[in-house]
Amino acid sequence: MLKHLKVPENEAQETKAFLEDCKALNNSFLPIKEDGYVLWPLNFEVEGEIIECTGLQSKRVSRDYRLKLPPKIREIAPRAFDIFGNIAIIKLSDESFEYSKIIAKSLLASNPNIDRVALDLGVKGEYRVRKLEMIEGESDFVSIHKENGFEFELDISKVYFSPRLARERKRVYDMSMDGEQVLDAFAGASPFSVALASKGCNITAIDSNPQAEIWSNNNFQLNGVSESNYTFICSKIEDLVSDLPDYDRILMNNPTNSLPYLKPLSDKLKSGGVIHLYNIIDKSVKFEIQDFLGSEFECVFEREVHPYSPQSSLKVFDILKSFTNVQSTNQ
Ligand SMILES: C[S@@+](CC[C@H](N)C(=O)[O-])C[C@H]1O[C@@H](n2cnc3c(N)ncnc32)[C@H](O)[C@@H]1O
Repeated sequence: MLKHLKVPENEAQETKAFLEDCKALNNSFLPIKEDGYVLWPLNFEVEGEIIECTGLQSKRVSRDYRLKLPPKIREIAPRAFDIFGNIAIIKLSDESFEYSKIIAKSLLASNPNIDRVALDLGVKGEYRVRKLEMIEGESDFVSIHKENGFEFELDISKVYFSPRLARERKRVYDMSMDGEQVLDAFAGASPFSVALASKGCNITAIDSNPQAEIWSNNNFQLNGVSESNYTFICSKIEDLVSDLPDYDRILMNNPTNSLPYLKPLSDKLKSGGVIHLYNIIDKSVKFEIQDFLGSEFECVFEREVHPYSPQSSLKVFDILKSFTNVQSTNQ
């Protein structure tokens, strides 16, 4: 069974370009058309509606790296993996661990865009940094990742970055407008901020990881963002939130620990402004904004960004602050 991204036919070409851009399109298989939808075959899971079904093998030379492996290893080698720039990042089960070298060599041989293969030992700590071990290739975790027309260079072993958020970053970019005041409260290497600043938003990007500051400043420059459009502050958000002004848009992308910050950050949202809250949530739980904020806040949009575990999902909630005060003074 192979994971496919299901999209309406009229979005098929735009989606194909996006999947090619982030190297998620599995060229060993063909797209499947059914009932007004197209199922695009994937190398690794992306955001959106994922369908698992038997893939349609392409007649062209296959690029599924597992086909080069002996059958015994092929069965246990990971089908999906992330790609950050030129680095493939794989998770190995206990049984496949002893074949890590042969699996990594096969991946390198199958994909000319990859020059290193790293073992993913999980994301940990306040900085949400990925513990990685290089299996094949130079032991250097710096690479340049292309996404939605931007370039992000960083050391993936020292600062957080997820290629799986590309579509979400495009969604927020499409919604934002020139001149907006934006707070990116957990900015990391600033992939959201760089995109929005390039559109003319005025960004305050904050992160407590000193490496986030180094790579963020690098990425603003790499993408030609004017210094007048951004300020990066290396700090815990709770240590400076009371001194911050009010914003039109607030990004809260710290999904394992975002809810404690929701109330203090919501106090910094202008009327008519929006918070994008990313939160890992149990699939059986319904998120009710009124459990956290007053009646002037409304959740106007929510969606699953991607599954997080069999029981939970990474979800985004767009939270709008209404103009209630304006209405009451007019009465
Ligand atoms: C999941 S990462 C998100 C990074 C970025 N928004 C992105 O899309 O790549 C969360 C970030 O929040 C930062 N962080 C965690 N706790 C923080 C705090 N209390 N104040 C400021 N930053 C914090 C971490 O260092 C990490 O870079």
